Amino acid sequence: MVFKTTTKSNKETKELGAKLGKLLKAGDAVLLDGELGAGKTTFTQGIASSLNIKGEVTSPTFVIAREHKSLDNKANLVHVDAYRLSTLAEISQLDLTSDLEESILVVEWGKGLVNDLVDQPIKVRIIHSDNENEREIEIDATDEILGKLK
Ligand SMILES: Nc1ncnc2c1ncn2[C@@H]1O[C@H](COP(=O)(O)OP(=O)(O)OP(=O)(O)O)[C@@H](O)[C@H]1O
Ligand SMILES: [Mg+2]
Repeated sequence: MVFKTTTKSNKETKELGAKLGKLLKAGDAVLLDGELGAGKTTFTQGIASSLNIKGEVTSPTFVIAREHKSLDNKANLVHVDAYRLSTLAEISQLDLTSDLEESILVVEWGKGLVNDLVDQPIKVRIIHSDNENEREIEIDATDEILGKLK
């Protein structure tokens, strides 16, 4: 199922990310698709705000992956910018200290990479609209998650 909505500010995009973040558990993966400046990092910051993690989420453009440790022994957040990866499988070759099965993986991809790493990723597509501060956001996830997101 796909849930579609429009956000009118970066704050609204963060809030949507936060809502999704509350529903995530260890082993979940979120793939964020969207052009440069669409709001992928902004959405990730929202997810992070719902997880009790260490450090601020910033754009990982110059590093491929950034790991944020959980402050309460729950899932770590692994935030990846796949811009310079050619397949998602390369994530498994990154030198991560977190075990992905015990983490929440958020990947900014933007290139429509075929998912070949995780079974059922939650897919988020962020699309610019004519209005500068407006974004169309489509979330493709299980009925269970979408039911709670609305
Ligand atoms: N509705 C909105 N949702 C998200 N961001 C918005 C919105 N309106 C304006 N913005 C602005 O768009 C920019 C989004 O930047 P962000 O770094 O999140 O994009 P990105 O998709 O991660 O880009 P990159 O491809 O460079 O990683 C921010 O400057 C943000 O303030
Ligand atoms: Mg980004």
